[in-house]
Amino acid sequence: MQRSTRISPSVLAANFARLGEEVESVSAAGADYIHLDVMDGHFVPNLSFGPDIVRALRPYSDLPFDVHLMITPVEPYIEDFTDAGADIITVHPEASTHFERTLQRIRQTGRKAGIAINPDTSMEVLEDVMDLVDLILVMTVNPGFGGQPFIESQLTKIAAARALIQASGKTIDLSVDGGINPGTAELAVTAGADVLVAGTAVFRGDGTSYAQNIERLRNA
Ligand code: DX5
Ligand code: ZN
Repeated sequence: MQRSTRISPSVLAANFARLGEEVESVSAAGADYIHLDVMDGHFVPNLSFGPDIVRALRPYSDLPFDVHLMITPVEPYIEDFTDAGADIITVHPEASTHFERTLQRIRQTGRKAGIAINPDTSMEVLEDVMDLVDLILVMTVNPGFGGQPFIESQLTKIAAARALIQASGKTIDLSVDGGINPGTAELAVTAGADVLVAGTAVFRGDGTSYAQNIERLRNA
């Protein structure tokens, strides 16, 4: 069965002075999700935005909000983000003292739970939580900034995650985040990814429109 590639534009590369319109534009341009990168200047060396911005953006799109939390501690803030309109919440195991409980807490809110795998995170963490995740997000950059180059050695993790998903028989999305452009998108999809997170390539891509940038990634 051929899987269709879904595109999740990261608003980190959007024009922050016009964030609502940017979210509206990429939604109309064929995006499948809106990726919202939340950074605390502690877990990652950058600051972005919190739940109030997520709530403010909610009326600008009907697409699922795919919220990537790069904050520690993370657990006390889960409800803030679900209340603000998050549909999927992705967390890093390193940001949580009791990671399994954090995933359960996300699921208890009725939202989907994702696990983010950093370049230096071992795939072993996945084995114990396959029953608790709806999404695996393989980071192909070290989290914290947009516009970084794709780390090719992560392709083996994408392939390993795809094999684990297949073996589990569960419906789990396999997403890739960082340095995605039409060239690296092809590598990621060939390795088994079915969702591509892309900031720079969508909001600052070479195409003539957001729609063209999105289609170039989808067809890569
Ligand atoms: C990095 C973020 C990414 C980032 C991707 O910490 O998780 O979502 O916005 O940006 P690009 O697509 O520019 O690499
Ligand atoms: Zn992200």
